[in-house]
Amino acid sequence: MCGIIGIIGREPVAPRLLESLRRLEYRGYDSAGIAVQTEAGPERRRAAGKIRNLEAVIAEQPVAGTTGIGHTRWATHGAPTVANAHPHSYGKVTLVHNGIIENYAELKAGLKAQGQVFESDTDTEVIAHLLDSALQSGLKLKDAFKSVLYQLHGAYALAVLVSGESDTLLGARRGSPLVIGWGEDEMYLGSDALAVGPFTQRVTYLEEGDWVILHKASAEVRDAGGFLVNRPIVTVSASAALVEKGSFRHFMEKEVHEQPESCQRTFSAYLDPVAQSVRADIKAGIDFSKITRLQIIACGTAYYAGSIARYAFEKIAGLPVDVEVASEFRYRTPAMTPGTLAIAVSQSGETADTLAALRWCKDQGLMTAAVVNVHTSTMAREADLLWPTHAGPEIGVASTKAFTAQLSALLSLVVCAAAQRGRITKAQEAHYVQTLLESPGLIAEALGMNADIVRMTYELSKARDVIYLGRGDMYPLALEGALKLKEISYIHAEGYAAGELKHGPIALIDEKTPVVVIAPDDDLFEKTASNVQEVAARGGRVIMITNVPGKVPTLSGDAAKSLKVIKAPDCDPFIAALVYSVPIQLLAYHTAVHKGTDVDQPRNLAKSVTVE
Ligand code: F6R
Repeated sequence: MCGIIGIIGREPVAPRLLESLRRLEYRGYDSAGIAVQTEAGPERRRAAGKIRNLEAVIAEQPVAGTTGIGHTRWATHGAPTVANAHPHSYGKVTLVHNGIIENYAELKAGLKAQGQVFESDTDTEVIAHLLDSALQSGLKLKDAFKSVLYQLHGAYALAVLVSGESDTLLGARRGSPLVIGWGEDEMYLGSDALAVGPFTQRVTYLEEGDWVILHKASAEVRDAGGFLVNRPIVTVSASAALVEKGSFRHFMEKEVHEQPESCQRTFSAYLDPVAQSVRADIKAGIDFSKITRLQIIACGTAYYAGSIARYAFEKIAGLPVDVEVASEFRYRTPAMTPGTLAIAVSQSGETADTLAALRWCKDQGLMTAAVVNVHTSTMAREADLLWPTHAGPEIGVASTKAFTAQLSALLSLVVCAAAQRGRITKAQEAHYVQTLLESPGLIAEALGMNADIVRMTYELSKARDVIYLGRGDMYPLALEGALKLKEISYIHAEGYAAGELKHGPIALIDEKTPVVVIAPDDDLFEKTASNVQEVAARGGRVIMITNVPGKVPTLSGDAAKSLKVIKAPDCDPFIAALVYSVPIQLLAYHTAVHKGTDVDQPRNLAKSVTVE
């Protein structure tokens, strides 16, 4: 969602706020703004659209000062206009906010009844009005801030400046993450460690309900009850500060190419290559023989990773699995059985729906686990078990390396479960571990399909609709392929189970609709090949991704002329989803590049969806 930065420091702050906002732009890019503390109080500069628009505004109207706040917005309440851009200001108060204030309408009505006038349609502005009123009523800054936080329902991460308080920056978190950064005679607030990455690697992660009063060289942290608390300072890895594209055109392209390493890093955390088994510490952390069912909860791409893993958990470990999108699960009153392990899968570890579903499972007394890429995230901290992925920071809004890292972790856990449940022998465990460890090499080989894919995506970029088909675990991969294509190229795409085609979707097939068929050489290949014939018989344009081009059915007429085959590397079906992820990501990527869309920051989207 939105990105936040706050700096209370020694040097001119505006360029540094901009530097941080550029790194945060992936979190939202509908509008951006900064406020800098001056002798006359905080002065704002805001712009609709991307950070570059804000840069132009600041170049025309520079603002000097050493303390300031900045924000990049993903709009929830109110259109992405300058008036709705953060920071919002009222009276003595200027602030930025990430999250949603659920009771803002009621609060706003009360403030309007007192004659206060609002300049935006946002929920955020009420916080500035409330804090200013509390200060006007004579409350000290600390008490005023506390009294306002108690009135807010919903989610927030806040950074606040107050006129006349030039050595003070206020922060608070509930439902949306916020970190304190510790510098040399400088302090920072950020919506994540990346935000403060250019300035410091020493951070404190605030807990739910915490709020803080920062001065240049100190931080007074209080918990939800208002009591002073000590939160540890941790040193984040340098990678949190490294978010460069290098020689790649887009972060997405870079992240697709990083997958051999990111999967390898993730496997290293789960698998012991010498013992050819799941690592002892992973086995010690869980006993799958005591688990009767898995409930996987996730959103979007992470949901597809969970859906793919389900096939392997059931087939290899004999463990029943339910997978559900968290936004439905959390409102459905699901009937859970004892012995169920709830697993939240999430890149950010902050997705509001997934977090709420995880908390609901905890409240039911279920054991919980989190497969997350941000190891300091709320889910990572709240779940009983943390199963990290090691993709490194993912900046492209469309998830790629985080997805394959999720698959890497989940497939490793399948082997763990199968071994602990007595479903596989030692030798079979060694075989599966070996197969997983070979997959980074095959992912690297799959990247070699790039040139072929560039060629065929020009035509794909002209399509209005695209259909993706797959069977078995290639079915959720087909769904993921369709999601990737629509989110970055804006081409309408749908994924279907190949066997389901004849039950309705086949009506969509015509000579204008490309059909991407994901068909590794497995037990289901022949069945998928028959579906290809059905598509071809109706004039469909087939793009087949397979490691056995020789087995692709012979088509006739126009279908034969339009058929395109992408040769994938040979691989064990157990890791096919990992290997075939690469061509579907590249198909989406190059199609989007041909179309000229904003690949890393596609319209209407944001990374880390911390609102419902
Ligand atoms: C799609 C994508 C989203 C996320 C979803 C969940 O490319 O990135 O569908 O997968 O918003 O986000 P996380 O994994 O952070 O919970």
